[in-house]
Amino acid sequence: MSTLVVLGTQWGDEGKGKVVHYLAEQADYIVRYQGGNNAGHTLIYENKPFVLHLIPSGILFPKKICIITNGVVVDPKALKEEIDVLKKKKIPIDGRFFVSERAHVILPYHKLIDGMLESDTTQTKIGTTKKGIGPCYTDKVRRVGIRVIDYIDKEVFLELLDQNLKEKENMLKRVCDIKKLKAEILKDHAVLSKFLKKYVADTSVMIADAIAKKKKVLFESAQGTMLDLDYGTYPFVTSSNPTSGGASTGVGMGPSNVDAVLGVVKAYTTRVGEGPFPTELFDKTGEFLREKGQEFGATTGRPRRCGWFDAVVLRHSVRVNGIKHLILTKLDCLEGLDKIKVCVAYKYKGKILKDFPASRIVQRDCKPVYEEMPGLNGIVRGVTKFEKLPANAKKYIKRLEQLVGAKIDLISLGRKREETIPASKNVKLF
Ligand code: IMP
Repeated sequence: MSTLVVLGTQWGDEGKGKVVHYLAEQADYIVRYQGGNNAGHTLIYENKPFVLHLIPSGILFPKKICIITNGVVVDPKALKEEIDVLKKKKIPIDGRFFVSERAHVILPYHKLIDGMLESDTTQTKIGTTKKGIGPCYTDKVRRVGIRVIDYIDKEVFLELLDQNLKEKENMLKRVCDIKKLKAEILKDHAVLSKFLKKYVADTSVMIADAIAKKKKVLFESAQGTMLDLDYGTYPFVTSSNPTSGGASTGVGMGPSNVDAVLGVVKAYTTRVGEGPFPTELFDKTGEFLREKGQEFGATTGRPRRCGWFDAVVLRHSVRVNGIKHLILTKLDCLEGLDKIKVCVAYKYKGKILKDFPASRIVQRDCKPVYEEMPGLNGIVRGVTKFEKLPANAKKYIKRLEQLVGAKIDLISLGRKREETIPASKNVKLF
């Protein structure tokens, strides 16, 4: 296999950053296909936690090529800040980092609009990251967006900027002085367009060439399946498609180019922001998971909502993404619990539901049907071989596989890359 999509199967924050960092060593190209700097990938670099929002974590390996494709929305200011931090750490960037000319650009007015919509009491509060993601994708769909190729061409940019400021005038004038806003955007543009130019490429062509040469290409999503615009808990979702289908449109390649899909799944469930979460815990166990798993947003610092593993969500994810392989993360965070619950179905108005419902009312009011299992009964952190895991941990893994219909090939037992073990000798994803 030479191409692999790695994606989140729950509501994001499954540990994709670490997983991609773990797999990136075997890859030649690491490609991010949707989302923006709403994501926060925390990994351990030089023994310290390190957060990347936009750039694939493969950048930490000096010879890998890292690409941001057309499906991503790029805030040039945030990108420059991230690159400056990497450069300070003496990580080489130039010549091995590229941004699609077709990616859409997040501008300060997108962030203002995101904030306004979130505080508007007549609108459904989504609990967004306020990074301007939704308004930028909205402009893309409305065909008024500004792409990277437009941004780096001053003449085109000025024309499109005026068009956008004019059509958004009524909204923006409520929160800012539009003349000042324009002056700020132009000042930034003078610096940022020059900075961005050297990374711009036709990334669809680059990736097609890489695949033709049998290079190993890893496609990474941001967020998770339940935040997918089409198959998530709409409207409490992000504005792109983190699902595997999003990799095709978000990269500019046909689906036949994807050899395998690896789903990243946490041993329990978390979510940030508003929206339904059937297995959410409001008790001491929820607090235990939050503390033990350090469940605080990498982008916003918000405490994450925590709950039991939800097999209904996972079956939905396995089906929607065509997942055959899973990596189970944060199993170590279940250490110390006497009992572990797994949601196997939902109950709504006396009916048992095995598939994730589309109705926002059913999603909100359904009750989880739990199966109870004994705690792990032992330490899993530091274990280096699957066979050495406590018997109850192995039972938990096997039960999850049965319930969700995909194989757990890898198990992550800590934040470091090295704290990852294969479930058998035959595991080979690349
Ligand atoms: P937006 O992507 O900022 O528009 O936010 C939409 C929803 O997606 C909110 O519930 C956010 O909390 C959630 N979200 C966005 N990015 C992430 C992420 O990387 N991890 C988890 N949730 C996220």
